[in-house]
Amino acid sequence: MNDELRALFPITAHAIYLNHAAVSPPPRTTLEAVAGQLADVRENGSVHYRDWNAVKESARKIAAAMIGARPEQVAFMRNTSDGLSTIANGLSWRPGDNLVTFRNEFPSNIYPWLRIRDAFGVEVRMCEERDGRIDLDELIGLIDSKTRLVAISQVQYASGFRADLERVGRAARARDALLVVDIIQAMGVLPTDVTAELVDAAAGAGHKVLGCFICRTVRGNALSRHWWAGSAYRIPRITPISNRDGSRVRWPGKQAQDPRH
Ligand SMILES: Cc1ncc(COP(=O)(O)O)c(C=O)c1O
Repeated sequence: MNDELRALFPITAHAIYLNHAAVSPPPRTTLEAVAGQLADVRENGSVHYRDWNAVKESARKIAAAMIGARPEQVAFMRNTSDGLSTIANGLSWRPGDNLVTFRNEFPSNIYPWLRIRDAFGVEVRMCEERDGRIDLDELIGLIDSKTRLVAISQVQYASGFRADLERVGRAARARDALLVVDIIQAMGVLPTDVTAELVDAAAGAGHKVLGCFICRTVRGNALSRHWWAGSAYRIPRITPISNRDGSRVRWPGKQAQDPRH
């Protein structure tokens, strides 16, 4: 790291910081931006809200470009866990549905699915770890015509295993299942291209590497239009979902009944 960059991270003046991808120290620029925003509210209330919106939209564009999405597909959420939970709770589940995930996912990518299992009688199929890796053949072998979604991380938090998302995405799409990806361990380190990799929804955050932004993207116009609003306008239910060409996503069976409604 050159001196100019190093100066942005005050921690380097008194410590050797080795990023272990938990919570990274943010650069001075992040702190200044956050403090500047708060100072503006302190001095002016909401007089400059149009400027705030412009900053937000510019951040949305940057986030979208970083993950290969369109800006209108990006919503700002509280964090990755919030994004994954919202996806889980936003779909209409029925008994008999199943979803596929990996046994050693970070808890944020396990507990929302267990809740769906308990609330709606959905089967949670967990692919086991094999020698510190995910055997993608095994994972894909768990997908069948009743699979509504596959939920995995682009990079595993414990092992660092990096999944071939496009391969999983193709297998999921062949069965009309969604691919939901936790991208937090990859964002800013590895390229993520949700479009090319056939990712339907992704949740991530910047506190591993980037500083502080949170985003999510989803496939389909109807879905993204709703989700654009993000946590400020939480919607209880998300259906229907359209493909990129505007056609409806076909779920296993016709009528998706959500016992909560
Ligand atoms: C893979 C993974 N997913 C989710 C999280 C939680 O992220 P957030 O704090 O943004 O909910 C972490 C944090 O350690 C993580 O490593």
